[in-house]
Parts: sequence; C-alpha cells; structure tokens
Amino acid sequence: EKAGFDHFMLKEIYEQPKAYRDTMLGRVADDGKSVQLSELTMTKDYINSIRKVHIVACGTAYHAGLVGKTVIESIARIPVETDVASEYRYRSPIITPDTLVIVVSQSGETADTLAALREAKRNGARVLAITNVVGSSIAREADDVLVTLAGPEIAVASTKAYTSQLVVFYLLSLYFADTLGTKNTAEVSEILAAMQELPEQVESILEQALVLRDIAESISSHPSLFFIGRGIDYPVALEGSLKLKEISYIHSEAYPAGELKHGTLALIEEGVPVIALVTQEELYEKTLSNIKEVKARGANVLGIGNVGYEEEANKSVDTLFSIPRTLPILTPALSVVPLQLISYYASLALGHDVDKPRNLAKSVTVE
Ligand code: BG6
Repeated sequence: EKAGFDHFMLKEIYEQPKAYRDTMLGRVADDGKSVQLSELTMTKDYINSIRKVHIVACGTAYHAGLVGKTVIESIARIPVETDVASEYRYRSPIITPDTLVIVVSQSGETADTLAALREAKRNGARVLAITNVVGSSIAREADDVLVTLAGPEIAVASTKAYTSQLVVFYLLSLYFADTLGTKNTAEVSEILAAMQELPEQVESILEQALVLRDIAESISSHPSLFFIGRGIDYPVALEGSLKLKEISYIHSEAYPAGELKHGTLALIEEGVPVIALVTQEELYEKTLSNIKEVKARGANVLGIGNVGYEEEANKSVDTLFSIPRTLPILTPALSVVPLQLISYYASLALGHDVDKPRNLAKSVTVE
C-alpha cells in the first residue's frame, strides 16, 4: 500500500502534484477565468457582508492558515486573523455575525478545532470548514465545507493535506474576489493559469530529491538550526521548522528574517545551518541583507530561491536550491516541498520512525 515507497510520508510528498490537480478539478471554469465552488451555500449578499475572517486550526493546518491570511487579505482584501485553536476560545475573540470563521483540519476530528468551531457558532458566526475528510465531525457541524482532495493521509506529519489546504485558500480567495471586485478578470485568470502549472512544477522539484537528501544528511549532524523568511516566506519557514522537529527531533526555530537581529542572532555561531527562504522579489534585497548578517557570524546558509535569480542569491548563500518561477503569492505551494524532503531525509538519516514519530498522533481528539 506504500506503492513502492519506503514510507507513507515519502509517498504522500510525491502525491502532491495529483492532490493539486484533484483539489482544483471541477473548481476552475473551463475558460480559466473564474472559480466555481458549487458546494458553498453562502450567497453573494453574505460574501459582501463579511467584515473579517478568523482562521482557526492546529499544527500544520494552523501554518496553512497563516499563509491563508496573507492570501485572503491580498486577493480578497478582507481582514484576517489566524489563531491556534486551543488559544482562540480562551481569549474572548470578538466574533460577530459578520465574522466568517474558517476552521482548517486534515482529519476533521481535532478536538481543539472542533471546540473553536462550536464557540464560533454559539456567537453567531458562519463557519466554513476546510478538511480532508468528508464525513468528519468538523465537516458535519460546519455551515459550509470545502474538501481538500488530497486522498487519505497516513503519515503523522502532514504534507499533501497541508499543500492542498493552500490550494483551497487560493480558490476561496479568488471566489470571494469575484464577488467583491477586488481582482479583475485578467488578474484572476493570471493566478488561475499559474496555479495550473503548480503540479508540474512540484514534479520538477521532486526530481531533485537526491540533492535534498545530501543537504538533509549534512544538516542531521547539527543539534540546532534556523529557518528564516520574510512576508509569505515566514509561515513556510514555520512549517519547515515544525516538520523537521516533528520527525527528526532536531531543534530548530523559525524567525521572520528581519526580526533575528532583534532577538536570537547571538545563537548563530560558526557552522550553524540556516535555511533561508528568498522567494519574494519585493523583499529580495532585504532578505539578502539578513542572510549577510547570519553569514557574518559563520552560519552555513541554504537558500531556497527562484529560478532566474540565481546570480544575486548565489553571492550570499552557501548552497542554493531553486524552485520554479511562479507568482509571488503562490510560492508557498512550491517552497515547502524541498523543506518536506529535507525533513524526511534528515529523519531517515537519524534512523527515526518517519511515519510514526514519538509523542505525536495523527489526530488528537482530546483538548
Ligand atoms: C496534530 C498532528 O495532532 O494535529 C499534526 O500530529 C496536525 O500533524 C495537527 O497538523 C492538526 O490536525 P488536523 O487533523 O486538525 O489537521
């Protein structure tokens, strides 16, 4: 059932192109100019009435929600807050009838997320669930459901479910943008066309798995490392760091690249690996100067950058891994893939149980 792969996690990483295609299938109009989400029951009037969005989730799904915040805010121009589900309920969130609460859960059974959903409904908000399991508790109790069509995810560490959640956030934002008029048809078509290229672009990253295995093996001998990134690269850094910690037990921290000097720059010493995401053209120069700060302290920097920008980046990093060019807003759907593979190969190099890491369950049904 692992279809020739050594672990479910590796199989699921390789299933991401298919998960992207399946999650988009039937949801993009034939002319490529709009998104159709026929399963949504919300009306145009309701969409126009949304004043804010709360995204609530746990673990990896929370990290998808952090990307979702930037995506919804930039494409649909609705203010978004993203919260960890176990915190949400206890901070008296300001939930009003014009708040759309989006809960994100691969399993649809996470108790903390379910409790947040109930709290939102009690306060009169409408709840939209993004889940991978159609008949789950969260799917049943939500007002609307958008299913990620990632297929069953067996490995405890989430990969294809996370990336499919990103695809759903893109689709939902474009759907809202159509009603709200925040993007014109040409802009929507451009994003949708770029999304259609993602599956093949992921495939081209997967073809370089052995390069990432070598990088992972060199990282695996270090006790601690850092992930840095700016803008939408930062939540991807958080996810890369979580994935590595979850299955390899190597300590790491994710920092917004510009914040390191306001915090723990002192921990960057000779030889400390730093994985720097540098995919945002607008922030390119700033991130490169942050890379120079860590290099000056002896860090060994792996850059995750864009094809076409190698020359400038190569001057600043020790090793560069380039992802195919896409629109800046879509880069998380690609840049997380090398990080997943690095985590996988680091765990493997250290002889850990990749699919069943210690102290972690696939779905946690206690609060
Ligand atoms: C944790 C899992 O318990 O729950 C993580 O170990 C997962 O892998 C998190 O990201 C959230 O799970 P779900 O099913 O709500 O997305």
